[in-house]
Amino acid sequence: MRRNTRYRRRRRARLRPAHMMLLLAAVIVCVFGFRRLAGGREPPPAVKVDGGQSVEPEAPSSQEPLPANVVTASGIACTRRNMEDDALYTGELILVNNKIFYHFPEDQELDCIYDKKSGSYYVRDREVFLAPVAMDALNRMLDAFMDQGGSKSINVVAGYRTEEFQQHLFDQSAERNGLSHAEKYVAKPGGSEHHTGLVVDLSVLRGDGSSADYDGTGEYAWINGNCHEYGYIVRYETGKEDLTGIWDEPWHFRYVGIPHATEINRLGMCLEEYIDYLRQFPFEGEHLTIECVSGTYEVWYSSGTEVYLPDSAEYELSGNNVDGMIVTCKIK
Ligand code: DAL
Ligand code: ZN
Repeated sequence: MRRNTRYRRRRRARLRPAHMMLLLAAVIVCVFGFRRLAGGREPPPAVKVDGGQSVEPEAPSSQEPLPANVVTASGIACTRRNMEDDALYTGELILVNNKIFYHFPEDQELDCIYDKKSGSYYVRDREVFLAPVAMDALNRMLDAFMDQGGSKSINVVAGYRTEEFQQHLFDQSAERNGLSHAEKYVAKPGGSEHHTGLVVDLSVLRGDGSSADYDGTGEYAWINGNCHEYGYIVRYETGKEDLTGIWDEPWHFRYVGIPHATEINRLGMCLEEYIDYLRQFPFEGEHLTIECVSGTYEVWYSSGTEVYLPDSAEYELSGNNVDGMIVTCKIK
């Protein structure tokens, strides 16, 4: 309202040549700004990820300030907000690997899988924990596995891990199998996704009480092939070792939410590649649209801690654990 009142007042003033020049400059800035918000794709920012090693993005080419309230090209009303630094390091999309460590928060909400699990699978003991959002998704995924004919044989053998326990696992693996093997299969303390509470490792528990490694084949291929519809990705796959730093682990499932798991699966990317890919969709450029079993989503990336958040639409905000945040807004 205030902006409109001011505009009307200016129109009543007499236009001198200097005013004409200023008016022309303002029109050019407005048209340029509108075209950017209306979907004009900017070139991808100069950010490279080489095996998870990130480089700070260059400053945007245009420095004009964006308004506090903006409606996206698809009609989502948003307001600009400044977040705390913590927002960069929390959320379903955070990238954690041997080069990008987890920022351990003061408090972390975790569910005891033993208490929360459905009847479709087993869990090693009462000491396996998971973030609530990943817990619900695990129940839905493994219930669906049984519904489509799978046997009750999945045993969840790992979830959340402390830094100390990861150190213990690394040392134990190096002692038993050698340092080179440990480095391929066990992340460094601080660099394990298990710290996030968004990960499970699966094993197989047969009817006779014996156990076997989970390799994602046979009846279990259904889980590895459909986990994205429940928000999980198979995090470490053959061919991506140079990027993830970890060898093939068909048993390690990472929760990222249904839209992003679907897009990651469609693109055949590992999380390192995907986090880099999302930088091509800044708020002021073209946004990513993802269609998946839970709906249609509009996704944008914000560098730093300033971000446009939807005023009323349902959305998820996640840091990438490096340099920015991703907004995932439900549009259908
Ligand atoms: N096994 C995975 C890489 C971890 O230790 O986090
Ligand atoms: Zn694991």
